[in-house]
Amino acid sequence: MAKRKILVTSALPYANGPLHMGHVVEYTQTDIWVRFQKMRGHECWYVCADDAHGTPIMLNARKQGISPEALIEKTWHAHKADFDGFHIGLDCFHTTHSEENRQLAETIYLNNREAGHIESRTITQLYDPKEQMFLPDRFIKGRCPKCGAEDQYGDSCEACGSTYTPADLVEPYSVVSGEKPVLKETEHDFFRLQDFEPMLREWTRAGHLQEEVSNKLDEWFEAGLQPWDITRDAPYFGFEIPGKPGKFFYVWLDAPIGYMAAFRKLCEEKGLDFDEYWAAGSETELVHFIGKDITYFHALFWPATLSGAGFRTPTTIHVHGFLTVNGQKMSKSRGSFITARTYLEHLNPDYLRYYLASKLGAGLSDIDLNLEDFIQKINADLVGKWVNIASRCAGFIHKLGGGRLADSLADEALFRRQAEAAEAVAEAFEQRDFNRACRRIMALADEANRYIDEHKPWQMAKEAGREAEVLAVCSMGINLFRQLAVMLKPVIPATVAKAEAFLGGQALAWDDLHQPLLGQPIEKFKPLMFRVDPERVAAMVEASKDDSQPAAKKAEAKATDQPSQADGDAITIDDFLKVDLRVARIARAEAVEGADKLLRLELDLGGETRQVFAGIKAAYRPEDLQGRLTVMVANLKPRKMRFGLSEGMVLAAGDGQGIYLLAPDSGAQPGMRVK
Ligand code: MSP
Ligand code: ZN
Repeated sequence: MAKRKILVTSALPYANGPLHMGHVVEYTQTDIWVRFQKMRGHECWYVCADDAHGTPIMLNARKQGISPEALIEKTWHAHKADFDGFHIGLDCFHTTHSEENRQLAETIYLNNREAGHIESRTITQLYDPKEQMFLPDRFIKGRCPKCGAEDQYGDSCEACGSTYTPADLVEPYSVVSGEKPVLKETEHDFFRLQDFEPMLREWTRAGHLQEEVSNKLDEWFEAGLQPWDITRDAPYFGFEIPGKPGKFFYVWLDAPIGYMAAFRKLCEEKGLDFDEYWAAGSETELVHFIGKDITYFHALFWPATLSGAGFRTPTTIHVHGFLTVNGQKMSKSRGSFITARTYLEHLNPDYLRYYLASKLGAGLSDIDLNLEDFIQKINADLVGKWVNIASRCAGFIHKLGGGRLADSLADEALFRRQAEAAEAVAEAFEQRDFNRACRRIMALADEANRYIDEHKPWQMAKEAGREAEVLAVCSMGINLFRQLAVMLKPVIPATVAKAEAFLGGQALAWDDLHQPLLGQPIEKFKPLMFRVDPERVAAMVEASKDDSQPAAKKAEAKATDQPSQADGDAITIDDFLKVDLRVARIARAEAVEGADKLLRLELDLGGETRQVFAGIKAAYRPEDLQGRLTVMVANLKPRKMRFGLSEGMVLAAGDGQGIYLLAPDSGAQPGMRVK
């Protein structure tokens, strides 16, 4: 097989908010494909960047009282942590607000201008006289000219659905200042998309796109290709257009150029040849993964601006559908607007990677994350089928073979069959039909389990003299498990890394499907993955609900912009609020017969009495404690002790020598909550 050279990208997330489950669909889809190519031995690079420019980011930074640079820097770190958390193996994660991108954007603009594809025109636009800025459609509101509904955006009415231009709004006002906008003239540069109609008509039918996408594009050709306004006036957060002070590139011009810029940075780090990948006529592959909402930008503007500037055009633009959660659009009130961070705080990323893979076909259909189905699928497929094979076999290999696999395969034909069947899995991965790949892998896992069921090693093990047979069957089982690990590696890389450690530490490549592991020692089996805990899923949904957050938590969430994951020991304010701390009066205290450290306390919580056994006898005489106030954990699970039930815990400081019971300041009353 000839070695391919492939550059892969995912759409650049806006540096304006957190990554959410919808983003994770795309980044997981891309990452699986990239990992698959790398395992097949191809040279494959995966780059992405934050999309840092534009009016919303500028205004958002202003609202937060920070510079746009500070906002995008903060977001970059949060996004980076989320990518890492989901094992998205980016070779470079850059930003569009970079020197590489400025230079490339200028080159692409200037080349196109030289070739006559840029024209300047004077247009009139709505302008906020107070803020001294031109207003994008979304930043103008007013009454709908058709139905009269108040507070509608400048491009369409949410009440009656009609579309219009901002100038049609009745009593328009600027969302930024509230001021009435005025019409003002300005000179803008336009990219002459219509120059590229013949090239695009051909390109969109030449196998670079899914058929559904090509069909959609035909509608756009019918509607006619219009010149594209690539200019924005100051104030704007972006790159100033060369030779045009006060004029900036529209964010969507320099955003896709961010793909090139990220790759240029990678070239500097790795000593790669930029031109080999980007020059016109390049023989390398360029593959973009995007969501269906941004097809127009990628399948029309992008190839046109590239070709107009003398660069190569994409090999493939792969478009995916949108994510829904439990059948509906993600919503904060339902708790289904789940951020990447909230997911990672509750669940194993490989669960979601596998689930999404099992749902992602090669087409544009939307994908539903059904949380019930999610739990079932992970437990049935990954834990119940795949991990199960290893857990059924490993014990016998340690018990009967000293931890060493047999020297030959018990069923060589089955091993060969599975290796050959993996070619269909590879084909499905290549076509980005991950759903088909997962179904085939699980069918093979079923077959492996059937093999073990038929040979019943646990029964043979009871019969004297059959140790070698048991070892042979279980070694065969481990080899089937290992082949499945190869196939699952692009999907669940962290879990397969654990399997690799279990199998002796070698990193699995696709070719290992044909090489059995024989006569080698393996590690003791440790569970590679636990079943999904439905309570964690419920807690994740709860944590995603906007209005269910206690006031204290909301304030905290706003105050800290850093993701709290980084050190494993940190708890969230949520975790802390689970502890019900109360002021308690020690109504009675007495020694416990037969226990030299314990005192039995009766604690008055202002109406309710609790019995608690506390290990404080060395420091306090019982009679000195009676009547004192202290602090207790009131919602600790009652614990049965030899002397009776302990229904909570009192708080004391200690250094291993002294013990110091905590007490509230005077004035506190029994039963008061401690926060
Ligand atoms: N910044 C632009 C892309 C510029 S690429 C040169 C953008 N950013 S985004 O943050 O809104 O979206 C990034 C990617 O995530 C897009 O491909 C988008 O389609 C995808 N998704 C965002 N929400 C999604 C879902 N709910 N479901 C699936 N994908 C979604 O667009
Ligand atoms: Zn209306």
